[in-house]
Amino acid sequence: MEQRSKLDGRVAIVTGAGSSGPGLGTGKAISVLFAREGAKVVLVDKFEDRADETLRLIEDEGGSATVVIADLAEVASCQHVVDQAVDRYGGVDILVNNAAIASSTSIVDTTPELYHQVIAVNLTAPFMLSKAAIPVMIERGGGAIVNITSIAALRGQGGAGSTAYAASKAGLIGLMVDLADAYGKKGIRVNCIAPGIINTPMRAAAMRQAGVDPAQIDLSFRTSLGIEGDAWDVARAALFLAGPDGRYLTGVLLPVDGGTTARSH
Ligand SMILES: NC(=O)c1ccc[n+]([C@@H]2O[C@H](COP(=O)([O-])OP(=O)(O)OC[C@H]3O[C@@H](n4cnc5c(N)ncnc54)[C@H](O)[C@@H]3O)[C@@H](O)[C@H]2O)c1
Repeated sequence: MEQRSKLDGRVAIVTGAGSSGPGLGTGKAISVLFAREGAKVVLVDKFEDRADETLRLIEDEGGSATVVIADLAEVASCQHVVDQAVDRYGGVDILVNNAAIASSTSIVDTTPELYHQVIAVNLTAPFMLSKAAIPVMIERGGGAIVNITSIAALRGQGGAGSTAYAASKAGLIGLMVDLADAYGKKGIRVNCIAPGIINTPMRAAAMRQAGVDPAQIDLSFRTSLGIEGDAWDVARAALFLAGPDGRYLTGVLLPVDGGTTARSH
């Protein structure tokens, strides 16, 4: 029997499709995995070199992708991203809201400017991208939105807090439940992934900034499995939620965290 790829011919927008440093961020892994499954991937990032690196990985494997450079902190960029996907590939079937900026700042030390920047990239952009993409998905008979939130939206992370980040990630869950209910009958499914400890460039930078040596972190205390995840763990979950295996799933918050949220401490 002919084996079809799970996303054959689908057009997928992935934001934050680069990596903020050497190694593999989740947007990069999601983009590569979706392309392997036959999707045409719209690689959105603020930085051309980062998006180009992902494009090269995909093209080297014979996949299809195109780069759209956009600073998602600018509201108008969201409509531009969706317009580019329609112009280049004829529509949008999947939107992965992955791009984010971290802030490890207590509420007392958070300036209004920092707060607005974090909310703009992490929450307003997914809102505006969904607003622009949903009518296009409806025209094609449906679609799937996957928001990459964080376990920071569900439980404290210790220390003085990363309050703006946590608030922005919690907002993505509200966005999900509302859209899942409002657009389910139009064939649009909306789900969230809450990554826990995932070894990505963003996490490495946060560790460096906090002066923490990752080797000293007691993973057996922080996770039930006693190991850290990698970007492919998140990518596989995104494929599951966005693709045909997730047909009956909407409004789901899926932790990919090795059991961190299952722990009582
Ligand atoms: N790494 C973890 O442990 C972890 C844990 C929980 C949640 N997450 C979430 O996973 C997602 C990806 O994290 P990562 O660690 O792979 O990140 P990363 O920093 O490696 O990649 C993020 C990408 O987003 C892009 N980006 C940032 N601001 C942008 C903007 N204004 N416009 C367009 N692009 C922009 C960056 O250039 C970068 O390429 C984020 O939503 C993050 O909050 C990560």
